[in-house]
Amino acid sequence: MFYYYGRKKQIAKYYPPPNYSTIVEPFAGSAAYSLHGDNWKKEVLLIEKDERVASIWEWLINEATPEQVNKLPDLKVGEKSSEFLHIIHAATKMAFHYKTIKVTPVLARNWEISKRYIKANLFKIKHWRVMCADYSAAPNVTATWFVDPPYKEDSGKGYRHGSGSIDYSHLAAWAESRRGEIIFCEGTCGDYLPFTSLLELKGVAGKSSKEVYYYKSSKAQKQIQLFT
Ligand SMILES: C[S@@+](CC[C@H](N)C(=O)[O-])C[C@H]1O[C@@H](n2cnc3c(N)ncnc32)[C@H](O)[C@@H]1O
Repeated sequence: MFYYYGRKKQIAKYYPPPNYSTIVEPFAGSAAYSLHGDNWKKEVLLIEKDERVASIWEWLINEATPEQVNKLPDLKVGEKSSEFLHIIHAATKMAFHYKTIKVTPVLARNWEISKRYIKANLFKIKHWRVMCADYSAAPNVTATWFVDPPYKEDSGKGYRHGSGSIDYSHLAAWAESRRGEIIFCEGTCGDYLPFTSLLELKGVAGKSSKEVYYYKSSKAQKQIQLFT
């Protein structure tokens, strides 16, 4: 819904489509998968531990109108902002540690694009729900679970609640016990579930990063049990 470090907006289309009427994102961030295509029409439950991110969702879901979003001031290059919603539009992991940011041309442009996007898409999220909590507080409903935690590598350290505070074996066992289906995202260092390759992302200066994922459906599991 907004620019966010590690968001899945560009690659949401490569993940399996949801097979259940509910989508749960226990590591919500900007919730790109739930907004992709027609996914937003489902029941959507977001869980996010960073209260600043959860508050943005609470405001967008429960209060914001397109007119209000339209009236949010544009950012001028060179000025400073202490608004977290502005700061995350720098889309860098450092953003989570800044109290104030100096507006760069990139930030001003990202904010302008985002404002237009939020205004046009706000109607899609008005039936969604958000919880400010640890992922483990999510109710175990039968759903498509899109699990996108901070990755177990350097890039996952940037968030206020980053990879350093996650016990990945515990997270893997928790994910395996979800009802419905799980789509679990990771990067090159993902070694705690049987991940398979999703794609390779080309970065700047010839650098690239690997996206891997793990998919499991308890429906398929039940069918296998029935026929064996
Ligand atoms: C990789 S980002 C999710 C990006 C998201 N899929 C998107 O498209 O924008 C991971 C998110 O998990 C949140 N997070 C970290 N630890 C958490 C925890 N224990 N429980 C819930 N959320 C957590 C971070 O604050 C961050 O917003």
